[in-house]
Amino acid sequence: MINTLQPQSQLADPYSLYEECLLHNPVYWDNANKIWAVYAYEPCLKILSDENAHIPSVKHFSVDATIDSISANLVRLSNPPQHQALKTVAFYLFDKLKNVSIPDLLFSGIEKARGLHSVDWAVVSRKLFPTLIVKGFDFPNEDEVFLVENISSLVKLMGAINDERSFENTSAIINRAYEMVNCHFAERLLTKQEIKHLASMTKLDEREMLTILVSNFIGLLIQSYDAGRGLLVNGLRQLLQYKHKAQEIAIDENLCRKIVIETLRFEPSVHNTRRIAVADILIGETTIKKGETILLVLAAANRDVLKFPQPNVFDINRPDNEHLTFGAGGHACLAKHYCIDIAAKVFSLLVARYPSLKLLQTKLQYEPLINVRIPESLFIKLQ
Ligand code: HEM
Repeated sequence: MINTLQPQSQLADPYSLYEECLLHNPVYWDNANKIWAVYAYEPCLKILSDENAHIPSVKHFSVDATIDSISANLVRLSNPPQHQALKTVAFYLFDKLKNVSIPDLLFSGIEKARGLHSVDWAVVSRKLFPTLIVKGFDFPNEDEVFLVENISSLVKLMGAINDERSFENTSAIINRAYEMVNCHFAERLLTKQEIKHLASMTKLDEREMLTILVSNFIGLLIQSYDAGRGLLVNGLRQLLQYKHKAQEIAIDENLCRKIVIETLRFEPSVHNTRRIAVADILIGETTIKKGETILLVLAAANRDVLKFPQPNVFDINRPDNEHLTFGAGGHACLAKHYCIDIAAKVFSLLVARYPSLKLLQTKLQYEPLINVRIPESLFIKLQ
């Protein structure tokens, strides 16, 4: 019997469990948790692309008008028919993101986190993606500090907040963040003309447009946090291990990009996502019935030997590396290329400035999170 919902942080090596599941139970009914767990690549891809596989709703401890309104407007939590229009809004926002100087952000972040002999790269990584997004929208400095410092509270929107104290604290922060973004968007960032244009393009209610934009900006911040920092931590670890083995090799941005892409397959930050069947879904000879919940184990699908030859080998030269770490189908991540570009740039800058950069930590502890696997710390020596 497999406990498909065992927290990531309790598993020293989830990949050996995934290997067993891929071999014996690629599509598995976990009766104790009443959930399907899908490990194999093709079935995962099929379900991600199936319009009858919806995003399950999230229920919190209590009711808060702002939390409920953001949740109702987030592209990530939406389903057809609203999803397509909300995706257009999210893309519109994403296209407005300005370029920000990565060296400034990276090296000032390192200076702030620097200890006497080492730096915890996980600490530096936490702020990088959210800061890029807030800076890319020209928020005033005090708003930037508030949004980035409170990002871990904003992220709670995506899972169930199920105790009173946490709900109260989180809703206070989310309400303040909402006001801040609303004010910046209404007063400085968006013209009435733009809002009108976007409403006519998406056929969404013009009076709701500002709320939808604000909600999805918060959504971009939320989506960038766990997955982004996980990529930076796992990617740097893979890069340093690679560099150690390859010895004299020159590490340029192109090589970093290859390492980032293979890290996304081999050791992804996002391990799973969920769907609920709104009609029967046939997977081979198995029927997932209407109303049943599905856990898509993307990190296992990325190690499926039927898709990736020698899946347990870290190979930066894979000709076909269509991993599922950014999802697929309608809800596929809109920031896929952006994330790869940023991570490759960050790593190449780091290696250029600190050519003898060293990994100080080999044993890792993982954060107690449900769908992502992120080391709590990664100590490195800058030299
Ligand atoms: C390494 C970094 C990232 C990874 C691995 C990642 C992964 C994913 C995955 C797996 C999904 C789909 C979830 C599902 O289908 O259930 C997703 C959706 C999404 N991601 Fe990312 N993401 C990353 C970074 C980002 C960043 C930096 C942003 C924003 C700037 C972002 C914005 C979004 C949005 C808005 C969606 C929802 C799309 C929709 O529902 O249609 N992601 N991401």
